[in-house]
Amino acid sequence: MSDQTLIDEATAARLNAVAPFSKFKVGAALRTKGGKIYRGCNVENCTYGLTVCAERVALLSALAAGEREFVAVAVATQSEEPSTPCGPCRQLMWEYCGDIDVTLANLTGQRIDYKLSELFPHPFSFCLED
Ligand code: THU
Repeated sequence: MSDQTLIDEATAARLNAVAPFSKFKVGAALRTKGGKIYRGCNVENCTYGLTVCAERVALLSALAAGEREFVAVAVATQSEEPSTPCGPCRQLMWEYCGDIDVTLANLTGQRIDYKLSELFPHPFSFCLED
C-alpha cells in the first residue's frame, strides 16, 4: 500500500529541486527503520555530468546523519506516468537499503508500488565488511 506521508514528503522535497537544464524536478523521501524521513531533490550542474539525483541526495544525507537501516522510499516527479529511478540510484539503494518498498508518484495522484528487487533484479552485491 502506498505510504501517503512519504509521497507528501517527496512531493514537498521536489519543490527544492535545482533543475535549470532539464526542467525535470524530482523529489525523494527515504524512511528509516526508526521512522525518520530524509528528503532529497535533484541538483543539476552546468557540466551536466555532476548532476545528482533526488534519490541519492536523500540516501547520502541519511547515511551522513548516521542512519543505516531503511524501509521505504517515495519518488515524486512531474511525468505523465510516475517515473522509475535511474540505474545508478537503484544500485546504490540496493547496496544501502536492501529490498525496500519503492513508491513512485506523479503530480496527478498516480502511484505505483514496487519492491526494489522488482526494479533491480540480479543486483551486483559484493561488499566488504567495514
Ligand atoms: N533524476 C533523478 O533525480 N532521479 C532519477 O532517478 C532519474 C533522473 C534527475 C536527474 C536530472 O536532474 C533530471 O532528473 C533529468 O534526468
